[in-house]
Amino acid sequence: METYFAKTLAGLEEALESELKSLGAEEVQVEVRGVSFKADLKTMYRIHLCSRLCIRVLQDLTSFFAKDPDDLYKKAIRYNWKKVIDVDGTFAIGAVSTGEHFPHSKYASLKLKDSIADHFRMKKGRRPDIDVKNPDVQLHLHIRDQQVTIAIDLTGESLHHRGYRPKNARAPLNEILAAGMLTLAGWNSEHDFLDPMCGSGTLLLEAMHMSANVPSQWKRDHFAFMNSMDFSEDLWMELRKETEAQFIRPKVKFQASDLDFAAVLQLKSSLKELPFEVDVEVKTGNFFELTPPEKPMFIIMNPPYGERIQTDGEIEELYIEIGNELKKNYSGSTAWMISSDLQALKRVGLKPAKRIPLKNGQLDCRFVGFNLFRGKRKDQLQKQED
Ligand SMILES: C[S@@+](CC[C@H](N)C(=O)[O-])C[C@H]1O[C@@H](n2cnc3c(N)ncnc32)[C@H](O)[C@@H]1O
Repeated sequence: METYFAKTLAGLEEALESELKSLGAEEVQVEVRGVSFKADLKTMYRIHLCSRLCIRVLQDLTSFFAKDPDDLYKKAIRYNWKKVIDVDGTFAIGAVSTGEHFPHSKYASLKLKDSIADHFRMKKGRRPDIDVKNPDVQLHLHIRDQQVTIAIDLTGESLHHRGYRPKNARAPLNEILAAGMLTLAGWNSEHDFLDPMCGSGTLLLEAMHMSANVPSQWKRDHFAFMNSMDFSEDLWMELRKETEAQFIRPKVKFQASDLDFAAVLQLKSSLKELPFEVDVEVKTGNFFELTPPEKPMFIIMNPPYGERIQTDGEIEELYIEIGNELKKNYSGSTAWMISSDLQALKRVGLKPAKRIPLKNGQLDCRFVGFNLFRGKRKDQLQKQED
């Protein structure tokens, strides 16, 4: 078993811990923006194929104490680099350093590059090339004061790319954040799903994949670990077959709509990419004009906050209307909202059953859940006060 580090977004560390345990990881420990864990090769492959909350996985290669960049060069040259880099292959180094001994991370990474190149020259008479754009092996150099850690990136392109939309498509919500919100909200495919402000549909698409038991990376066929010398194609194919056998057709209905025609069009084209069948209705429309559902639903939404709606008054007005709509037409349902506008969230006029701090990019947000009780508005407000 090897030791790995899985990165995630702030606020999702504990959810990632549970997810990785369920995928077979052992000795999982929560750290800042990630978890460390131990796993065998097949589990590491499974985490890449299936994790919805992980951004990337790093594997520590070596760790040592270095006085300065020259010392780093001398110590790194001793590592057996041919275990991880092919002399005919390419590599690149990303570096982060803190502390007075290594004030320039770029210089530290140059020293490491020279050290690796000289290691190969001494052993083989030639050296692997650098390729910063598309290397076979991406190394991470991490220096805190004089403690040096060199890790290899096993993932390559970030796992938030799911393959269900073009890479340059507009996506105001990170796929990992969307999957994290669904996990924290306890999405369990028991009620029909509704995102009435769906934009390009990240929450809908993630919820569907979860309900259908379809791995987040089903459409991807290359990860950085596949460049490694011990990569087993047989093990990978075996894992894909096992995973495919677990696909199911979700029993619930999925609904999503948005005022923005172009965003809905993009969502419709993503739906064509899905490798499973599902009962889904997507349309252009105003939340406040939707036909109220006959039975309780799981509602989740990421309404606009701040940037596009200019005045505070307008955004607060929108949140008041959202609250009124939920109270009037969605009693018995559960509703979740994410927003960075804490003032506007209060204007929804419902007492959250849960409030979870999350970050959407640089924005500090609250992810709040409301239980929409049945009964009259007066009784409902009374229940919140009790
Ligand atoms: C932050 S974006 C949602 C992004 C979405 N989660 C995604 O993954 O693309 C907010 C969306 O709310 C929509 N919206 C605002 N008011 C609406 C209304 N009254 N009815 C329906 N959609 C609305 C906007 O058109 C916008 O697409």
